[in-house]
Amino acid sequence: MDEQHVKGRTFSRYAVFYSVIAAIGGFLFGYDTAVISGAIGFITTRFDLQPGMVGWTVSSLIIGATIGAACSGVLSDKYGRKNMLVVSALLFSLGALLSAMPTGVAGLVIARIVGGIGVGMTSTLSPLYIAEISPARNRGRLVSIYQFAVVTGIFVTFFINAGIAGIGDDAWDVAYGWRWMFGFGVLPGLLYLVLLAFIPESPRWLMKRKQEVRALDILERMNGKEAAKSELNEILNLKEEEAGSVRELFSPALRLPLFVGVVLAILQQITGINAIMYYAPEIFKQTGAGTDAALSQTVWVGIVNFGFTLLALWLIDKVGRKMLLVVGSIAMTVCLFAVGYGFQSGITGYSILFFILVYVASFAISFGPVVWVMISEIFPTRIRGRATAVASFCLWAADYAVSQTFPMLIEGIGTARTFWLFAVVSAISILFCVRIVPETKGKTLEQIERQWQSGRR
Ligand code: BGC
Repeated sequence: MDEQHVKGRTFSRYAVFYSVIAAIGGFLFGYDTAVISGAIGFITTRFDLQPGMVGWTVSSLIIGATIGAACSGVLSDKYGRKNMLVVSALLFSLGALLSAMPTGVAGLVIARIVGGIGVGMTSTLSPLYIAEISPARNRGRLVSIYQFAVVTGIFVTFFINAGIAGIGDDAWDVAYGWRWMFGFGVLPGLLYLVLLAFIPESPRWLMKRKQEVRALDILERMNGKEAAKSELNEILNLKEEEAGSVRELFSPALRLPLFVGVVLAILQQITGINAIMYYAPEIFKQTGAGTDAALSQTVWVGIVNFGFTLLALWLIDKVGRKMLLVVGSIAMTVCLFAVGYGFQSGITGYSILFFILVYVASFAISFGPVVWVMISEIFPTRIRGRATAVASFCLWAADYAVSQTFPMLIEGIGTARTFWLFAVVSAISILFCVRIVPETKGKTLEQIERQWQSGRR
């Protein structure tokens, strides 16, 4: 009854249902990524901010997220994935509420750090939770729902910003508009909190806590009796080992998975995606577009990101993670070189927009979803929370570095060379994906664990 047969294969409705709920954490991530772009202009006027303070206000969320990601591993290994998702939803909602109320910029920065901690936690734990509850054959697709929720959050928030800004005149926007933009986040935050009540704890985490009966019950409900039994056996086979300590992360056996996870996380950011996500209107203005054209071109970035993430969802369990990464990084490299060349030779018009959109599309089918999928599945269960958190921490720290240095790079070495720099990093990422990254498509988490142990890739 729990299972629907799709083209001869079983597909668990429960796994989909629980994954969609957990993935709403991605929506909150996307919301916070995009809301600041609509609010920052009004905040700058309201508090008369100098450039340094503008940067602080924008990046305070990323600082919070870095902290949240760092804590999420130890806390979720100890208190459970679901409980910590609940805490992250509370922190996100509190951050949204406090961001709507400050009387000074210091209050706003603190509020964004609080919300950021929630975002950092959920960015680590939503994909991890989904990976732990998913049947192997659909795991890539189910974890990618998380990335789909991130891009949906970004996309929808562009419209929420525009809708709220359109309610009143400029004076209203400066006094109240930005407060509503932030405050609106309480709604998805609370909705997430309510929906989390309907998901069970991760069976793999329960097994680690020696609660086999509860774990089996949940596995049966999701994957059917037969699959549940074999999964339980697989987990049991690997279970004798004790929960890992932070020091164990650096043991020889875990060095390679940790290296792969951390490098993928950093590459996802230092190939430049958030230079586009955070600064797109400014980049388009440099190609000669007026303010309105720059904003509508930014909407295209959102649409392409959204559409191609859907395509990735369909492809990831068919062609595999590695293939998507390799093809995506080749296309990203070509586009980044072309964008740099466009700026270098002073080309105006739509050609730069074209290559930026192809770059975003290539990211959306590769590094966007695949990195979140892989950092949630390549680590052994006993250490997964901590190891995923280390990778996620590195991802957020790299995000911070790129968003802080991008304006300085543009100023210092120029737009063309900045994009060429991203292109060179992207070219290195092709090599990394071809030579080092393993294929994990269709394997159970326990098979992946054994694959590392046997040294096969
Ligand atoms: C990245 C974010 C980025 C988003 C864009 C995510 O996978 O982690 O930093 O803003 O993709 O779609």
